[in-house]
Amino acid sequence: MIKEQKEKIAGFLAEVVEGLSREEITGMIEIPPDTTMGDFAFPCFKLAKTMRKAPQMIAEDIAGKFAGNEMFSEVRNVNAYVNFFLNRPAAEADIVSRIVAEKEAYGGSGVGQGKTVCIDYSSPNIAKPFHIGHIRSTVIGNSLYKIFDFLGYDVVRINHLGDYGTQFGKMIVAYRKWGNHDDVVREPIKSLLSYYVKFHEEAEKDPALEDEARATFKKLEDGAPEEQELWQWFRDESLKEFNYVYDLLGIRFDSYAGESFYSDKLQAALDKMENLGILEESQGATVVNLEEENLPPALIKKNDGSTLYITRDIAAALYRHDTYDFDKCIYVVASQQNLHFRQLFTVLERMGCDWAKGCVHVPFGMVSLEDGTMSTRKGKVVFLLDVLQNAVEKTREIIREKSGEDENFEETAKAVGIGAVVFQELSNNRIKDYVFSWDKTLNFDGETGPYVQYTHARAASVLRKAPEDVAEILSGAVKPDMTLVNNDDTYRLMSLIGRFPDAVQEAADKYEPSVVTRHIIDIAQLFNKFYHDVRVIVDDKAERQAKLAVVIAAKQTIANGLALLGVAAPEKM
Ligand code: ARG
Repeated sequence: MIKEQKEKIAGFLAEVVEGLSREEITGMIEIPPDTTMGDFAFPCFKLAKTMRKAPQMIAEDIAGKFAGNEMFSEVRNVNAYVNFFLNRPAAEADIVSRIVAEKEAYGGSGVGQGKTVCIDYSSPNIAKPFHIGHIRSTVIGNSLYKIFDFLGYDVVRINHLGDYGTQFGKMIVAYRKWGNHDDVVREPIKSLLSYYVKFHEEAEKDPALEDEARATFKKLEDGAPEEQELWQWFRDESLKEFNYVYDLLGIRFDSYAGESFYSDKLQAALDKMENLGILEESQGATVVNLEEENLPPALIKKNDGSTLYITRDIAAALYRHDTYDFDKCIYVVASQQNLHFRQLFTVLERMGCDWAKGCVHVPFGMVSLEDGTMSTRKGKVVFLLDVLQNAVEKTREIIREKSGEDENFEETAKAVGIGAVVFQELSNNRIKDYVFSWDKTLNFDGETGPYVQYTHARAASVLRKAPEDVAEILSGAVKPDMTLVNNDDTYRLMSLIGRFPDAVQEAADKYEPSVVTRHIIDIAQLFNKFYHDVRVIVDDKAERQAKLAVVIAAKQTIANGLALLGVAAPEKM
């Protein structure tokens, strides 16, 4: 709502300020660091020249012009600033009516209408474990999908599976040497991983294995049937396991076009680069020289003719642009791949794709383990599935202890356990590295998902006590008189609720779901204070309804925020 409020104030100011456009004025309006200085402030320094007066005088004059304006309880100048104090009950009533009208759409908008965004996220590697490192791309990408969707964009969810490349040469060689068919059927990823680990141990002693793996990958790439069959089998078994995790998280994709999908589209991309004359030979390999851009050359083809990760990404970007005509293509991938994406986007620009400026790498920090970094090659990983299952099990214990098993027991345990893991993942700035700790992940106190979910359930239980009042408010039949809950704490809570749409927009602008997470944590904290200090169910109907309106607004906003994070909001806990 900040945007709308600023625009309204700018409208008034434009009539009394000389030499500035309405847009310029809107851009100058500030939000003071605390509400004792008003809800908005307008600095007058810039006006001194055009209006030929001391800024403080100008501020005083302007403030005087607002006498009697009903949008404000007070407008006064402090030095060279005009400080605006909103008419609080009126502002609160605006927020309530907007929430009542929009309900689960509150916080969204239509800014993205007619625009398409592709989001490439999760994108795990076949035949390798879905470990705790992958959860970041998966949940950040899923949340960005929900946020952009909420803002009216058409979103295409793409899982760019790592189902191709030299590692499949290694996997096939390893399987043939040390593998066992029945083990793979029984425990696909764990077995395949153990062969992969063994391959790297053996290759340290016998480098010839690496050559064998390269040759095997080349065969696969050339379509040799036996290699193809093994590869297909690894892929199918792995996908089964990935889908199990996606189901638990409630995550879906529109496309599973992974790296292998582009194997028959590589030649066209190579031809295009060739025709543009941007390919160069370098020691038998083919590269795009990026010296001018101060980047190392992009290796497009190895000296044995096989293609690389970036080659497939070039073909994928061309394909996505052709197929979806996107405005933005967002890649949610670890910051270790910063260079890869700079090279990729630069090569696309060199190919004359001006749409490449719509390609965005959204990096995130690394997850390490308490005893060091994770390493697939060494088999040192924490499996995401184990994390999710342990979180649900711990939640079962807590609920059993607290309230026993009711009919929603399993459902709640799942919502809260998985919600805790996802919420934690989205609590911090995505770029921060972090150390995975079982204790922290399974700690449900403090600023956690369960805390926010519990706050939501608490609001729901208050509303269950006054169903008729709630129905009247939600139908819009009653406009609660917000002068009846007028105090500083309530106003602070309602302002935060009113700023939720701005937080959602900011999260999209920064590709940063944690903006939403932080915002709903703050709302939950202020709501809990309200719940503690204020008796909601009082005899006086008008007063009761004003208070219930605050509860309705808080509950709806928290629910909408949790939905954007991909976290469930149970009505009871
Ligand atoms: N499979 C890759 C990995 O696990 C991530 C792929 C990201 N997407 C892309 N288009 N490159 O590191």
